Amino acid sequence: MLIHNISQLLTLAGGPQRGAELGSLGLLSHAAVLVRGGIIETIGPENILLQTYPNEPRFDAGGRVVMPAFVDPHTHLVWAGDRAAEFELRLQGKTYQEIAASGGGIRSTVRATRAASVEELKAQARPRIQAMLRHGTATAEAKTGYALQHPGELNQLQALLELDAEQDLEILPTYLGAHDIPPEFEDNPDGYVDLLCTQMLPEVREWWQAHAPGRPLPFVDVFCETIAFNLEQARRILETARGLGFPLKIHADEFDNLGGAALAAQLGAVSADHLVKTSPQDIAVLAASQTVAVSLPCTPFGLADPHYTPARQILEAGGLLALATDLNPGTAWCESMQFVIALACRYLRLTPAQAIAAATINAAAAIGQAERIGSLEPGKQADLLILTVSDYRHLGYRFGGNLAAHLFKRGELIY
Ligand code: NIG
Ligand code: FE
Repeated sequence: MLIHNISQLLTLAGGPQRGAELGSLGLLSHAAVLVRGGIIETIGPENILLQTYPNEPRFDAGGRVVMPAFVDPHTHLVWAGDRAAEFELRLQGKTYQEIAASGGGIRSTVRATRAASVEELKAQARPRIQAMLRHGTATAEAKTGYALQHPGELNQLQALLELDAEQDLEILPTYLGAHDIPPEFEDNPDGYVDLLCTQMLPEVREWWQAHAPGRPLPFVDVFCETIAFNLEQARRILETARGLGFPLKIHADEFDNLGGAALAAQLGAVSADHLVKTSPQDIAVLAASQTVAVSLPCTPFGLADPHYTPARQILEAGGLLALATDLNPGTAWCESMQFVIALACRYLRLTPAQAIAAATINAAAAIGQAERIGSLEPGKQADLLILTVSDYRHLGYRFGGNLAAHLFKRGELIY
């Protein structure tokens, strides 16, 4: 298939973009894209490709922007129930931490998720997946973390694998058994850390090898915060996971700076996520590493908190910055990377070009997939998004709507 009549082709070619490089769109005019077997075969001048491949089926992009599909590298896609009542409580003055301390928050979703079957979890996730696809996301990372015991956490992994197999959104699972201290261990958090390290993580590995043979192990993530796991506990869990061969992620500095971002960098984690309260020292450590800094601007927005990731400082330090939705029922029920870009332009002070790169090639790097997706280059998977507009800057500039016209996954038109 030859995609032609493109106003701006954003290739994002050249790999993940660090620091001041962020925003290199690789913009081509009068270019066309040849897709075969789900892979991008050639990108070149439109007149030459039309002449060279006269019999190739054509797709007319209608004089609009063509770019890589969005990659969403941080979601909590699978959960049961909702927390609309907590949203209202927060607007009446309660904080997220106060609600969590009184048994709400993550624990309220844990109660609903523990009570749900794998089928129910999948049924509740499907409309979210549809919304992600409709808004131009073709690949997403997705976490467990709402059972905090086995087999519940494994059921969440099972739901993610089955959802990945049944529909078009490509899902990369993360095991987040360390999302919160389960109620059973309220007075003994170290007991839960022991259980995670000695039993649950080895069980996940065994379960994965039996249920997803040949597939790379999922990421292991920890919520490192005053209201969840402290730095020493996070270190123990992540070191154990690393020893078992899992790639690592961390939730750090959403509310308090405990040092989780620097820990992630030291342990060679693929990403460190949230990063609102990250100190200048930790930014320097992170920026000097291969760990991708993932900002989740929907989360402070969802909490009506005026503090966002110090993105400009991360870029000035030479860091790798990506964006994600954090789709979850507590702080950020948002499926749209377009809305994330709009927030990033305003509160992180990114330009549309920087935000687009952070939502594509750098987002792919944040899940270890930058060799395969996140840019349009010969040999890469043909995950392409056609916008309804002819100027890419309308991403960011416009918000609250949907500028996705068509989405291709592995060369197939899926939306
Ligand atoms: O990334 N912070 C921890 N996890 C989610 C919130 C989950 C929830 O409140 O259910 C987050 O913001
Ligand atoms: Fe999260």
